[in-house]
Amino acid sequence: MAKDRAVGIHDLSLATTEFVLPHTALAGYNGTEIGKYHLGIGQRSMSVPAADEDIVTMGAAAAAPIIARHGTDRIRTVLFATESSIDQAKSAGVYVHALLGLPSATRVVELKQACYGATAALQSAVGLVLRDPRQQVLVVASDVSKYDLDSPGEPTQGAAAVAMLVAADPALVRVEEPSGLFTADIMDFWRPNYREAALVDGEASITAYLHAVESAWKDYTEQGGRPLDEFAAFCYHQPFTKMAYKAHRHLLNTCGYDTDEALLQRAVEDTTAYNRVIGNSYTASAYLGLAALLDRADDLTGRPIGFLSYGSGSVAEFFAGTAVPGYRRHLRTAAHQEAIDRRRTLDHAAYRELHERSFPTDGGDHPAPPQTTGPFRLAALRGHKRIYERR
Ligand code: CAA
Repeated sequence: MAKDRAVGIHDLSLATTEFVLPHTALAGYNGTEIGKYHLGIGQRSMSVPAADEDIVTMGAAAAAPIIARHGTDRIRTVLFATESSIDQAKSAGVYVHALLGLPSATRVVELKQACYGATAALQSAVGLVLRDPRQQVLVVASDVSKYDLDSPGEPTQGAAAVAMLVAADPALVRVEEPSGLFTADIMDFWRPNYREAALVDGEASITAYLHAVESAWKDYTEQGGRPLDEFAAFCYHQPFTKMAYKAHRHLLNTCGYDTDEALLQRAVEDTTAYNRVIGNSYTASAYLGLAALLDRADDLTGRPIGFLSYGSGSVAEFFAGTAVPGYRRHLRTAAHQEAIDRRRTLDHAAYRELHERSFPTDGGDHPAPPQTTGPFRLAALRGHKRIYERR
């Protein structure tokens, strides 16, 4: 198969949660000056899952419009990326496969490497499509970012899913070679199997992220990548939106440019619009950035977009994608805004209650309270099995 065949993102759709907590409510509770949240970390609100929502319901909700538009005939692989996995053995993608009515002749697997997982899925999908361009791959990145209550990470929480259909002759973004790669064994952010909330060394994680940016970029240039000034915009992993600015400033300085605030804004601002009100969506975050960019920016046809995917622990990848002619006709801008606007605002006490909620582990029949108005719900945990339903 010709390696230069155009392969990339043919469709992209996002979903988020039933509820939202404004940072003003969190600041009102813990006495933080609101400027720290709004300006210091660049967050306005966080998506909060209902008691009957999780990575499966969000992932299915993100992917359903893609199936409605393109059908299932050519999808032979589903790659589900997450770091808030709900089972140690079974892929969350198998539940999504059933909820969407995908054909049994499909391979489904879950991928994990912190927030980098979706990029591993995307690159694997590109490889599969290059091998057989008749096939399409459904990539689903879905995560609930959860830190301990009253910890420094709490204001960066969020939840969302992005589904991408990867295909030959894509309608949105062609994924290019080469990639710049970086891996280092560090403990900046992790979640042991016995914990629901992540552990993090905040300051060390920011330093590690910046080091990964410059290292992945260095490899990208050594592999023959584009020069920095060719890029129209950069989709960074956004644990909080200010991090995208920190990362790009670091990249500019690494490449010998002074920090030009106007240049920085132009390169990053559009990509932060959804993350700013959704919060950290881990694996989905860089691709929420892409969705926001495509939905908001002036015409990007033929313009290269830089992607920097960072997953703590850590693995990073820098690669380029190019917006293809006619891409604006295939965007889901109104649906994306609706997914954000339809969220119901929680008060702080209700948020804390949801944060602390978990199913009993006794194997009994535990229905979930009906809260979500989304298309899929987690109905119960029954005999240690998660029961999902279409609403
Ligand atoms: N007005 C304006 N700005 C203010 C302010 C105010 N009143 N008060 C504080 N600030 C600014 C600070 O100056 C600081 O800005 P700079 O970073 O530009 O210096 C910013 O607000 C944050 O303040 P602090 O550093 O004091 O905040 P903190 O100690 O509470 O911690 C954090 C911030 C480390 C990001 C914390 O939220 C955290 O641990 N988050 C989780 C970890 C994380 O997101 N790491 C990112 C890299 S790792 C990764 O990317 C993987 C992943 O998804 C987790």
